[in-house]
Amino acid sequence: MSTKTVPKVNLFPLTTEVNKQGHLCIGDCDVVELAEEFGTPLYIFDEFTLRHKCCEFKDEFCKYHPDTLVIYASKAFLNKALALIFKEERLGLDVVSGGELSIAHSVDFPLDKVYFHGNNKTPEELKLALDLGVGKIVVDNFYELELLNRLARKRGIDQNILLRLSPGVDPHTHGYTTTGTIESKFGFPLATGQAEEAVNRASSASNLNLLGLHFHLGSPVSEIQPYELAIELALGFAREMGKKFDFNIGEFDIGGGFAVPYTADSRVPTIGEYARAITDKLNSLVSGLGLNRPRLIVEPGRAIVAQAGVALYKVGAVKEIPGIKRYVCVDGGISDNIRPALYGAKYEALVANKALESEGNMVTIAGKLCESGDILVQDVNLAAARPGDIIAIPVCGAYSIPMASNYNALPRPAIVMVKEGRARLIRRRETYQDLMSLDLI
Ligand code: LLP
Repeated sequence: MSTKTVPKVNLFPLTTEVNKQGHLCIGDCDVVELAEEFGTPLYIFDEFTLRHKCCEFKDEFCKYHPDTLVIYASKAFLNKALALIFKEERLGLDVVSGGELSIAHSVDFPLDKVYFHGNNKTPEELKLALDLGVGKIVVDNFYELELLNRLARKRGIDQNILLRLSPGVDPHTHGYTTTGTIESKFGFPLATGQAEEAVNRASSASNLNLLGLHFHLGSPVSEIQPYELAIELALGFAREMGKKFDFNIGEFDIGGGFAVPYTADSRVPTIGEYARAITDKLNSLVSGLGLNRPRLIVEPGRAIVAQAGVALYKVGAVKEIPGIKRYVCVDGGISDNIRPALYGAKYEALVANKALESEGNMVTIAGKLCESGDILVQDVNLAAARPGDIIAIPVCGAYSIPMASNYNALPRPAIVMVKEGRARLIRRRETYQDLMSLDLI
């Protein structure tokens, strides 16, 4: 394997190798053959990497805080096959809609381990959650608190809830995915007294059982300090509330947001480093403040699925603008991955059928959609790419698929799960017929 490609290869799933033909192999499957068999664009998920990440989160957090529940944040990507894997790995689930909840329910996911988030759950979604017996509902605002209590009373049940705090902590990430700051649309602000009022109302609500507190700062958060600060604020608040009301923090949910490296030069904390710092802070504050040790809930999405997923595209046109730019155009784009256009997200890329060739060509990988902003990777070093070559983009497992669209009426890609030399389709490619299947004349 050429040393030049090694840092990139490390971004790919844990089972990635390059075979004698110079083809990228994942889960013992030659991805060039997968592209041939299933077509492109194609998303590949490596089952070993997925399961490994689930275990790493459980092991690292439980090492320091045995009573930790890892709940996977479904918004990063959930379908039936993934939901089954998380069920087998005994994770809990964070859902934010009736749709995500229905996917979980369809595979008999244990609903007592489901946490229902969201800043504007509809009455229909709350009714569905109550009727299915969702374990915890994370209440975001006063409207929801009242509505949920009413719905629970009607059904004669006591619903377990957490309150979402808005701690006023800046996680230093993209503005679109920042949620910890005071002006955020999410949660009850600590600083304005609304969080205290929420504890007051929740603890006296007839049909709600206030189990604990939650915050989520943003995504991805590549610093550890914002977590430490927010934990300090939230637990200080918990102690105050314990003195004023009949409140004991049984569960403490510190959200998700754990960053992953997308490019060879990016440095972010490891899962172990996040776990160590978060549990250290929690454990020392709990004893210092004289609180009972709460159950810790962590909600990783990206850090579980991102590295497991790889996007494959076929090269069509290669366009040289002499002295200015060379475009390698592929058969997908912002319709299957909006992240570069929306957040300026950076990715690496590799020519999957030339993984051993030296990379001396600075190119821009463009999609096929009718927008100049449809660029998947700006300025990346690749082996010489020609029409028919297969481009592989690593770290595509999180948020690409769930944010995909049918812009320009492009069918959404197929998804395969690979494991030990076998590839199984876990979502078939959309057809032109699918695109019209909901239309009525
Ligand atoms: N918990 C809550 C309450 C959240 O809102 C989120 C993400 C997570 C957990 C999981 O965060 P993660 O561990 O995946 O960073 N579309 C954006 C990311 C939006 C994240 C929204 N909430 C992206 O593509 O980067």
